[in-house]
Amino acid sequence: MAIFHRTALAQELATHILDVDMAPASSGLFLGARRRTGKSTFLQQDLCPELKRRGAIVIYTDLWEGRDQDPGDVIIEAIREELARHDGVVLRFARAAGMERLQMGGVSFTMDRVGLGRQVSLAKALATLSDECGRLIVLIVDEAQHAITTEKGSNVLYALKAARDKLNMGPHHGLRIVATGSNRDKLAMLVEWKDQAFFCAPMKEFPPLGADYLDWLCDRAPASAALTVEGLSSLFQRSGYRPEWMQSGLNALAACCDWTAEDAIAVFTEAVESRARSRIDNLLDLVGLLSPLQSAVLRVLAAQGRHFVPFWTRTMETYRLVIELDDGNQTTEPINLQTVQDALEALKEKGFLWRSAYGVYALEEFGIREALEEGGMLTESTRRVTRVGRQAA
Ligand SMILES: Nc1ncnc2c1ncn2[C@@H]1O[C@H](COP(=O)(O)OP(=O)(O)OP(=O)(O)O)[C@@H](O)[C@H]1O
Ligand SMILES: [Mg+2]
Repeated sequence: MAIFHRTALAQELATHILDVDMAPASSGLFLGARRRTGKSTFLQQDLCPELKRRGAIVIYTDLWEGRDQDPGDVIIEAIREELARHDGVVLRFARAAGMERLQMGGVSFTMDRVGLGRQVSLAKALATLSDECGRLIVLIVDEAQHAITTEKGSNVLYALKAARDKLNMGPHHGLRIVATGSNRDKLAMLVEWKDQAFFCAPMKEFPPLGADYLDWLCDRAPASAALTVEGLSSLFQRSGYRPEWMQSGLNALAACCDWTAEDAIAVFTEAVESRARSRIDNLLDLVGLLSPLQSAVLRVLAAQGRHFVPFWTRTMETYRLVIELDDGNQTTEPINLQTVQDALEALKEKGFLWRSAYGVYALEEFGIREALEEGGMLTESTRRVTRVGRQAA
């Protein structure tokens, strides 16, 4: 499918990432944006090519692609694949491992010797790659928050921090780590927690597609539809800046031809809005299938975001209030540590929640909050435990 290229943004970010004088850039860059807003497309189609064009070695990995694999392994595998592309690096490793007679003896250095606790550490491997090629390395970790859902993933991040410190000093050519995520709360854990590998790394909002994209979109619609950027901008904003939804509008225009120039925009709008409605309806249907406690836990978490403390006594009271006041149900099941824990686990299994290896919970994606808000499910009761209240307690 055709995409709109964001060349200027790629150039701006590449300059920021590669800048040798800008100290924060050497601690990495974190980009946060909602789901389905075009992060991966931009990284792969625009940013990676621009970084390569400027001479960097780029390693890209999307931790959501292999969801059944440990995220730590996914990152290590991406690094190994890049290493294997450079014969000189393989030879250096082989020599260091006493395998000079690589060809003649039939012994070969296999990349599974690179990794955590292996013969060649990630820092050593990346330093060798940078030295051999004489180029800076940019490692892009898409959906990086997934890394801290496992111990191995967290350990890989620590190893990368060590690698980054090593490569950004002395004779090497530098390592930049760019991470993205679709939930700012989760990404914030990577940069705001003192014990996290990227403590203090700068975090930027990944800018959504804008007027230039809408202009491109208008050009792709039948000319007789006379779509305009002004006419589409508030619809695009309402659709959470998701290009796929706008594509539904174009598809609707292409699918039937009995619209006139006057009602083309209405046909387009109806297609986009019906897609938005069905997404919200589907999510709310799924929420409707949850047990009363699971549903209450989900709504309280969604309403309280980063201030959510699932097992705090006051939060337990809030669950009860939501079930009794908002839902008009009697709380038949007990509300205690065990049942709340079970509810959180069930919500994670059903794809509503994300849990870090440290046991912190967050919504899997922001769209769930939007749907609950839209469905009027984030009431006063769900917000009842405030930060102030917690500090005072
Ligand atoms: N610049 C663009 N021009 C046209 N379509 C785009 C553009 N960027 C993204 N899209 C479309 O939007 C959809 C979502 O894009 P993408 O997967 O890049 O988003 P994402 O933010 O990485 O999503 P996720 O949160 O699922 O990882 C895809 O169908 C893609 O083709
Ligand atoms: Mg993506």
